[in-house]
Amino acid sequence: MKYKACLFDLDGVLVDTAIYHFQAWKTLGRQFDFELSHEQNEELKGISRVESLEKILQWANYQATHEQKDRWLKEKNENYLALISNMNSNEILPGVISFLQQLKEQGFLIALGSASKNAQIILEKTGLITWFHAIIDGNKVSKSKPDPEVFQKGAEALGCSSEECIVFEDAQAGIDAAKAGGMKVIGIGSPLVLSGADKIISSFTEIQVSDFLTL
Ligand code: BG6
Ligand code: MG
Repeated sequence: MKYKACLFDLDGVLVDTAIYHFQAWKTLGRQFDFELSHEQNEELKGISRVESLEKILQWANYQATHEQKDRWLKEKNENYLALISNMNSNEILPGVISFLQQLKEQGFLIALGSASKNAQIILEKTGLITWFHAIIDGNKVSKSKPDPEVFQKGAEALGCSSEECIVFEDAQAGIDAAKAGGMKVIGIGSPLVLSGADKIISSFTEIQVSDFLTL
């Protein structure tokens, strides 16, 4: 078989945490009178916490000191952790478990490729952790998406070449990262905001493993 492994982004692909990141950044922005929009939030998807703050400060046209930035990064994460504190398996997105089950039955290797430094805790809270053969998260990479590092490390950890991997992503930065790494990518979301993917679906309820084998 051509493909051996699937690499999954976490936030917005396996679990509905994208909304919590949005809420936490929106709350933080209000400290300097900035109201984050949905359109701007799209650009924050997939990128690291530090880069997200830099973008927000730029949009707000606010010159922050190092101390302010450190404090706000901490505050945003504390707020985010509070929002996800009661997370459980109910917040796994529709169709995800049955898709993972199909992959397992068909012998695919499964890895996580996420920018989040909170990935481990989310995988534990939701019980998703048991499905993964390798976990590459924000603590294991030095370059953020759209750099392909996170997916290249995922493929390497599974012992696969990039041609043998399919990436699942909800962020434009993630789609670009997969492409830069020479991998096939399935976008999760709307074709109105995502471009460059080999296929776009709105949810895992729309796809069977057999649907991507011909990509
Ligand atoms: C990505 C999210 O998965 O992780 C981004 O799409 C987020 O919105 C990034 O900023 C970093 O997450 P964390 O949990 O380390 O702040
Ligand atoms: Mg995502």
